Amino acid sequence: MAATGSLFDDFSDLVRARRTSMMVDKEREVPAEVVAELCGLATWAPNHKKTWPWRFALFSGDGRARLGETMSADMTSADFGDDVKRAKTRTKYLRTPATLVVGVAAHDNEMLHRENRDAVAAGIQNILLGATTLGLATFWSTPALTQPPGVLELCEFDPTDRIVGVIYLGWAAGDCPVPERPQLQIAHITD
Ligand SMILES: Cc1cc2nc3c(=O)[nH]c(=O)nc-3n(C[C@H](O)[C@H](O)[C@H](O)COP(=O)(O)O)c2cc1C
Repeated sequence: MAATGSLFDDFSDLVRARRTSMMVDKEREVPAEVVAELCGLATWAPNHKKTWPWRFALFSGDGRARLGETMSADMTSADFGDDVKRAKTRTKYLRTPATLVVGVAAHDNEMLHRENRDAVAAGIQNILLGATTLGLATFWSTPALTQPPGVLELCEFDPTDRIVGVIYLGWAAGDCPVPERPQLQIAHITD
């Protein structure tokens, strides 16, 4: 029997409605309390061995420029990218009123190290879906460097942590195209 019921329908609509978008009201602040609630949802993601590996750092106001300057300096130290890319990095976090850096803790066990990242990625999806219900646009991006020492310090993360995503947040202002999904294929083995 196909899944039915209004809760499922509402959830399906929500999952499909979430978009990767930076079309936001640049002037309207995203309250830190709202972001804290969203980060709280992330902590309800499944997490093998309950390692609680997620790390969060919120940047708004001038903090966003500081994030850009620090990332750019880390790129220079790592000899990563060219002058154009580094200059772009300095200002890129100003594109939305809030930028959430989500990190993951390292683990000595190789499997748990990888699973920690899976748990954080699942947590990020909770954030994105929760944000969508509130009318917030979100954009999950991978930073140029995932272990930039200066940025990790700025975020108050451990030096061994890694960045899983930089999430741009702002109140949605406009729709963006919906990338269609490929035809669903499921192998179903019954005997
Ligand atoms: C781990 C991860 C990293 C991503 N990094 C980027 C990125 O650096 N730049 C970008 O344009 N989109 C990035 N995206 C967003 C995808 O481009 C986006 O999800 C995809 O185009 C589908 O669009 P939709 O999210 O609106 O369905 C990332 C998504 C994930 C899951």
